This record gives sequence, C-alpha cells and structure tokens, in this order.
Amino acid sequence: MKKICIVGASGKLGRYMVQHALNRGYEVVGVCRGKSVGKLDAFRERITIVPGATNDREVIRRAVAGCDGVLTVLVPWGMQQYSSGTAQAVLDFAQPGARLVFSCGWHISRDGKDVYSRGFKMLLWLAGLITRSLRMAQIEDQDEACRRIFASDRRWTVVRGSDLEEGESQGLPVWSQHVGDPVLASNLTRRIDFALFMVAALEDNTLVHEAPAIVGCHAPSALAFDSAG
Ligand SMILES: NC(=O)c1ccc[n+]([C@@H]2O[C@H](COP(=O)([O-])OP(=O)(O)OC[C@H]3O[C@@H](n4cnc5c(N)ncnc54)[C@H](OP(=O)(O)O)[C@@H]3O)[C@@H](O)[C@H]2O)c1
Repeated sequence: MKKICIVGASGKLGRYMVQHALNRGYEVVGVCRGKSVGKLDAFRERITIVPGATNDREVIRRAVAGCDGVLTVLVPWGMQQYSSGTAQAVLDFAQPGARLVFSCGWHISRDGKDVYSRGFKMLLWLAGLITRSLRMAQIEDQDEACRRIFASDRRWTVVRGSDLEEGESQGLPVWSQHVGDPVLASNLTRRIDFALFMVAALEDNTLVHEAPAIVGCHAPSALAFDSAG
C-alpha cells in the first residue's frame, strides 16, 4: 500500500484519516467539496487535493487513479443520492484489486441479523423523518450505497461506527459482526479511533468482505469482554 485516496477528506472523520495515513507513510489524495478545501490547510503541503462533490463521477475517476486503497466517508446529505452516487463511482473507478473501505453507522445491516434497541430504532426513524421532510438528507440512500457495496466483488470493507465522541486515541477499536453482540453494548467510540480502524483495515485482509460494527477498546463492554475471555 503506497498511495491511497480519502473521499470526504475534509470532515472530522476524514481529517483524522488523513493524519493516520500520513503517519503510516502513505501518499494521500483527498477529495472534498470546493468550499471545504480550506479545512485541509494543515495538510496542504503534504497531500494532493481534488476538489469536487464526492458523487461527481469524473472527480472520483481522477482522484482514485493509481491508488492502492480508497477510504470513503459515506454520508447521506442532500436529496441527490449522495451516498450511493459516491459509492458507485468508487466501485466503478478504483483500480482493479484496490482495497476499498467505507464508513457508515450501526444502522446499516448486512444480513438482517443485527439486534437494535427500541430507542435506537425510534431515533433512526425520527432522524429519517425530520431530515427527509426538511430535504436535508436521505438516510435510506446510505442503505442503498451499502447494498451496492455488499453485492460487489471488489475487495471492500464497510466499517459500521457506534456513537462517536472526541478525545485522544485509546487504540484500535474492537469489532463484532452484529449489533447486539455483548462486546458492543457500550455503543461509544472515539472518532480518532474510528479513523484508525478505517486506515488499519486497508492492510487487514481478514476484513475483506466484512461489515465490522466497532466500539472503543476502552469502552466498558469491550473491557468486560476482554477480561472474560
Ligand atoms: N456522527 C456520528 O455520531 C456517527 C456515528 C456513527 C457513524 N458515523 C459515520 O461516520 C462518518 C462521518 O461522520 P462524522 O460525524 O465524523 O462526520 P464528518 O467526519 O464531519 O463527515 C461529514 C462529511 O459529510 C460532508 N458533508 C457535510 N455536509 C454536506 C452536504 N450538505 N453535502 C455534501 N457533503 C456534506 C462533509 O464534507 P465537508 O467537509 O465538505 O462539509 C464530510 O466529508 C459517516 O460515514 C457516518 O455515517 C457517524
């Protein structure tokens, strides 16, 4: 892994991923909206920035050229199939054999075997209702993006993040295949460590064709699981 692309590099998760990738010595190409280029000023001398909407196929085609890996922040903002458009462009244009790692939340289920609390389902339903009626976001488009990724024969991983908090790194999060598994019960990960997991996944072949649901390695449920096992 020498050169990677980070799609959605200017966001909170994206900037942490840029830092982790540079720490590992990767050459980094970052894609972000033109109006957000300034958010990457701290890295300007060390990365190549391709400005543009992440669901713009031409932008993605240029950005991923020659990249061994692509980290994609999937977000459902707007009403123009932003998530599925972004995912499809990455699936279509990444070079053959490239490692593709996508971010999303616990609400995405690969096999329908995740177990969600009533509160979680209620919040998701409410967030969907509000953002759709205000025409702010299409949460269901993130599901569509992931359906396309799961159906693809590319070397993908979909990392499903718990609730997030800021703070110093605690180390690589732990993961499980299904929300509802006891190790995940704390439902909290540091955003910097979500980014660490995404970047580490690039070189972890055991995660190919997996949709790990993650939780912080210092979260009480992770510590309890560790001491029990
Ligand atoms: N927030 C949470 O609690 C949470 C929990 C679990 C999983 N996740 C997952 O984590 C990832 C990033 O989450 P985050 O909270 O850390 O956010 P973030 O890093 O700030 O990422 C937000 C991204 O969305 C872009 N964006 C914002 N408004 C937009 C708009 N109107 N149109 C197009 N793009 C827009 C941002 O680009 P600009 O820089 O151009 O604005 C940025 O790339 C997502 O995959 C999300 O599903 C989040």
